[in-house]
Amino acid sequence: MSKVSIIGAGEVGASCATCLAERDFVNEITIIDIKQGLAEGKALDLRQSAALKRFDTIVKGVTGDYSALAESDVVVITSGITRKPGMERSDLISTNAAIVKDVSQQVARYAPDCVIIVVSNPLDVLCYCALKSSGFPANRVMGMSGLLDVARYKSFIAEALNVSTKDIQALILGGHGKTMVPMPRYTTIGGIPIRNLLSEDKVQEAIHRTQLGGEEIIGHLGRSGWYAAGAAVCEMVEAVICDQRRVFPACAYLNGEYGCKDIYLGVPVVIGKNGIERVIELELDPDDKERFELSHQTVRASLSLIRS
Ligand code: 2OP
Repeated sequence: MSKVSIIGAGEVGASCATCLAERDFVNEITIIDIKQGLAEGKALDLRQSAALKRFDTIVKGVTGDYSALAESDVVVITSGITRKPGMERSDLISTNAAIVKDVSQQVARYAPDCVIIVVSNPLDVLCYCALKSSGFPANRVMGMSGLLDVARYKSFIAEALNVSTKDIQALILGGHGKTMVPMPRYTTIGGIPIRNLLSEDKVQEAIHRTQLGGEEIIGHLGRSGWYAAGAAVCEMVEAVICDQRRVFPACAYLNGEYGCKDIYLGVPVVIGKNGIERVIELELDPDDKERFELSHQTVRASLSLIRS
C-alpha cells in the first residue's frame, strides 16, 4: 500500500495529482486544501476520469483535516500564494514561510515517517523552513526545482536543434531563480556535447530563457505555471515510492558540500525510498564556481529574512 498526499489543491497540486494518477503507481492520493470543497471537488473530478484514463489509484479530497495525512509515504507541499507579474519569488517569503511552517508541523504530527517534497516558493528557503519545522532528518526533506528547470532547458535546446527532448541530458545547479546555473559542460544530445551542435550564442540563449522560464509563463498567464511543475514533482515521487535511485538535480540540504553550509540549493542527487540517498559533488571550473557562488549568496540573503 503506497500513499501520496498533496497539500494544496491549486493548479500545481492538481496537476501533480493528475500526473500521479495517470501513471498509476500509487494506491492512494489524498489532496488537502483549506478552501472548503476545493480538494473534494478536484479529487472527485479526477476520480471520475479513472475509467477513461485507465488508472486504479484512489483519489480523495479533504478540507483542512491534516489527520488525513496519516500513512503517507510522500507528502508534497504546494501551499501558499503564487507569483503575479512583477513579483520575484522572494516577494512571497513572509506569507509562504508562515504557511509552510504550519503545514510542516502538521506533516510531522500525522506522517512522521514520510518524505516531504516542497514545491512552494521561494523554494530553496521554504525547504529550509520545512526542515526546521518538521524536525525531519535532511534526507527526508527536499524540494522540486531542478527537474522543472532542466525540463525547460531541454525544451529550448530541442527547439533550437529541432530534435527530441528525450535524447537530451542536462544539469542545472543552484537556487530556483534567475541566478540558477545551467551547466552546458554537462549537457549532451544523444551523448554529443551541446557545444558540438549548437553555437555559443544559441547555448547562452537557451540558458537565459531557462533562467527566466517562470517569468515568461507569468508574462502570458498573469501567474506562474503548473503543467511542467506537476510533472516534475510526479517524477520525484515515483523515484521515492518505487525506490528508483534516479539521478537528477533536486533542492537538497547542504552541510559542507559545494562549500555551502546549512542551506538548501539545487545539486545532483540520488533519489530513492529514503528521499535523498546521496548528494553528488562535482568539481566546478572557475566560471561555474563563480556562477554557483552568486546563486548561493542570493539564496543565503533570502534565507536571512526568515532566520531574523
Ligand atoms: C516556476 O518556475 C512556479 O517557480 C515555479 O514556474
